[in-house]
Amino acid sequence: MSSPELDVVEFLLTAVIYTENRDLDERDLPPRYRRVFWEDGEVERPLTTTTNTAAAATGVDRPWEAISGLMFTDRDDFSGKIEFSDRGMAESWFLERASTDALRDNPTLTYAFAESVEGDIDYETAREQNRPIHADRVWIDSLLEEMFDEDEQEMLDLVEIRAPEEIEMTLDDLVLTADQENEIHKVVKAIEHRDYLAEIGLREIGKLLFVGPPGTGKTSVARALAQDLDLPFVEVKLSMITSQYLGETAKNVDKTFEIAKRLSPCILFMDEFDFVAKTRSSDEHAAIKRAVNTLLKSIDEISLIQDDVLLIGATNHPDQLDAAAWRRFDEIVNFPKPDSGMRADILRIVTRRMDIEEFDPATLAEATEGLTGSDLRLVLREAVLDALTEERTTLTQEDLLDAIEGFEERDNLKNMDMIEGDADALVAGGSDAPDHTHEHDD
Ligand SMILES: Nc1ncnc2c1ncn2[C@@H]1O[C@H](COP(=O)(O)OP(=O)(O)O)[C@@H](O)[C@H]1O
Ligand SMILES: [Mg+2]
Repeated sequence: MSSPELDVVEFLLTAVIYTENRDLDERDLPPRYRRVFWEDGEVERPLTTTTNTAAAATGVDRPWEAISGLMFTDRDDFSGKIEFSDRGMAESWFLERASTDALRDNPTLTYAFAESVEGDIDYETAREQNRPIHADRVWIDSLLEEMFDEDEQEMLDLVEIRAPEEIEMTLDDLVLTADQENEIHKVVKAIEHRDYLAEIGLREIGKLLFVGPPGTGKTSVARALAQDLDLPFVEVKLSMITSQYLGETAKNVDKTFEIAKRLSPCILFMDEFDFVAKTRSSDEHAAIKRAVNTLLKSIDEISLIQDDVLLIGATNHPDQLDAAAWRRFDEIVNFPKPDSGMRADILRIVTRRMDIEEFDPATLAEATEGLTGSDLRLVLREAVLDALTEERTTLTQEDLLDAIEGFEERDNLKNMDMIEGDADALVAGGSDAPDHTHEHDD
């Protein structure tokens, strides 16, 4: 069991052991601790434990109050330092109370105590299982700071970089087809065994293209994969890097790949990949042509095996992709609209934390033919909000059926031709109906 005093003692103990043992590095500190001591691209010894660092690392508001009753603790009022007055006593106190799991989650402690505690626990495994430093926000930030000076900051507005710890979506939250599961499994294996793949000279691996209509989970799966594999996630929308800075586009493409290489191992997610096709087939500006060529070349040159970058492209319009782009991906993963069974599963997942009377996902699935995962989320949101207007937080199956009907009406509106015909509907529906003509051009 964890308690504030145990948490603070663990923190103090970890800090002294880490400070003493030069064999240990950042990977041996739990992320919640090393974040606090991270400065200028490293964790510097000694780790100074104060009420402030202890509070930040443990989440305990008043760390000194939590441990001041223990015989072996001491505080320097002037500096705010908190320390052990009797190290031996502190260790035995801690080892008597700490769970094996807590030790396993802390490689520094496993290093020191694996021998002296019961249970299946060893340092190598603990270190292996601790999140690598390159997955921490602080590490990503210090790298970016190093890479870009003040006047290059706008580049960072074009790519979105997420640390795995910031990604809430996990693979368990997503309903996948057998084919998708299979492809994901292959990638995970390839990443695990990339040394072997390099050895046997297999390099054409690690470039995936996700293909399917909007709202089928392409972005979510890519992010969840980053979360699952503890890899930083670099996301760029190809339309963004072109439309804003036309002349700069080729340079932006280069920069994007540079960022990915510097953050590697990481996932580089390029959304709206069909942009490549559009600009290649029409007489666009020469600058864009140059950018597209840069892009295709950069894709050729980046490799999971050599650069530790997993490239995932995504498109809603596979039909618009030409052979030159298509050929560059070694696996195409199809994201179809979910079938009835998948829809029921998605509904189960998104309602996991809710109370629903007479909930019958199979029936709802039958009534939602053609809807995507994203549509189902919208349906649910509407049902929840509608119930809230009646001050209810318990939903019923009926609420969900109503919301489905509402969604379909909205969908009809969306597809209505606003220019020709349907004019009556516009009048009858009230003149303040929102203008839908500019939406959904994806
Ligand atoms: N197969 C699925 N399982 C669970 N949730 C899904 C699924 N497909 C889509 N969603 C949900 O719909 C929303 C939009 O999905 P997203 O990944 O942005 O789709 P896409 O990138 O294909 O347009 C997300 O909140 C996602 O969780
Ligand atoms: Mg998307």
